[in-house]
Amino acid sequence: MTYPLVVVANRLPVDLSTEPDGSTSWRRSPGGLVSAMEPVMQGAEGAWVGWPGSPGPAPAPFDADGMHLVPIGLSEEEVADFYEGFSNDTLWPLSHDVISPPVYHRHWWDAYRRVNRRFAEAAAAQVAPGGTAWVHDYQLQLVPAMLRELRPDVRIGYFHHIPFPPLELFAQLPWRTQVIHGLLGADLIGFQRSGDASNFLRVTRRWTDLAVRGGTVSMPDGRSIRVGSFPISIDSRRFDELARSPWLRARAAEIRADLGDPEVLLLGVDRLDYTKGIRHRIKAVGELFDEGRLDVPGAAFVQVASPSRENVEAYQQLREEVEVLVGRINGEHGRIGSQPIHYLHHSYPPEEMVALYSAADVMLVTSLRDGMNLVAKEFVAACVDDRGVLVLSEFTGAADELSGALLVNPHDIDGLKSAIERAVTMAPREVRSRMRRLRRRVLTDDVAKWSTGFLEALAGTAVQPAFARDA
Ligand code: F6P
Repeated sequence: MTYPLVVVANRLPVDLSTEPDGSTSWRRSPGGLVSAMEPVMQGAEGAWVGWPGSPGPAPAPFDADGMHLVPIGLSEEEVADFYEGFSNDTLWPLSHDVISPPVYHRHWWDAYRRVNRRFAEAAAAQVAPGGTAWVHDYQLQLVPAMLRELRPDVRIGYFHHIPFPPLELFAQLPWRTQVIHGLLGADLIGFQRSGDASNFLRVTRRWTDLAVRGGTVSMPDGRSIRVGSFPISIDSRRFDELARSPWLRARAAEIRADLGDPEVLLLGVDRLDYTKGIRHRIKAVGELFDEGRLDVPGAAFVQVASPSRENVEAYQQLREEVEVLVGRINGEHGRIGSQPIHYLHHSYPPEEMVALYSAADVMLVTSLRDGMNLVAKEFVAACVDDRGVLVLSEFTGAADELSGALLVNPHDIDGLKSAIERAVTMAPREVRSRMRRLRRRVLTDDVAKWSTGFLEALAGTAVQPAFARDA
């Protein structure tokens, strides 16, 4: 059987996890991509091609939650070279302002090409004649061209969930031209922000001979490729409905009580990633406690840092730094029964996240660079009683859309401290009016609107000329 719509992403929406007794079970995968695409796919007749999150041979395809899931197997070496190496130690830091230095290894690039081909072959086998394939994110930038080679009848969309680097940084990548040509296999290339789309068009102009006019790249075979911005969102109604449910409100109250009923509850929720500005945020909060501008037990800060990419050295180092910092601040300001920072190195189900969002007064999103940041939107969607202030980094895609947030430069620790203090002391009237503005935006521009917009734009792209002739 083949499918009219096939999503191709590095991860499946569920991860195969092995319990200590050797039994296996499927669990929800981490990250914004899955949260965004899951509701889209549940309503579509489609297949999802992706990696089940651990090394080993691919389990057989299966159906779950109204989706046909097609697992791709990666060996241990491929996980090290393709996923931890090229994807997350080369492309990831390169795309996030080289916050951590990108590492360039030729054998990682070989694995990247090999694994991208495997994904392209699996997608080619799933998509119906004349169907649509929607390829996602930086781990799979060669798939569009590889898939086009195998299935020229298929309409191919590509969406880049993370920032696209400026030319001056992208220039470092030894395989920059191959990556550009990989992406140009798509009919539509979508980015989070118009700045990312401009960066891509600039590198295409610089390292290819192709004609680039406005947001269109003309290929020698007559294809015109559209490049544009499609800011991603969340299933806002789901968060709103969850936050209104009585049991969840009770859970939110319970969380506050367990924290000693502080007057102010500050919250941070991130994958434990150096791009998220977690250290900057903790430093700012710590100094506010040092200076008595926040006090224990009047204020508490909960930082959820879900485990991520734990075999990559830069992530291991970050974890150590964060834990030393939290330990110092708690050691200095904690008392028996209450401490300033509650650091949770765990992942939680969406219901618990909504309870935390509902319990919080101030949400801190201080990324040093972030494609969008869906946590900011989730918090807003969960603030059903218009109570809650969002402190948001200028360096997130979300900052382009969420006027109503207090925008900050996370590198400016004093500025960050002032913004946190302003959020904590903001008059309820201003809190409400800002949150209403934020909610209007997040509830209107939801993930369904995003995916429909992208898929309609893709459907509007011209069919490949060779196929139009054959048909
Ligand atoms: O949105 C960026 C992203 O890298 C996604 O592609 C990914 O699913 C998510 O973050 C989580 O990262 P990882 O799959 O490496 O755990």
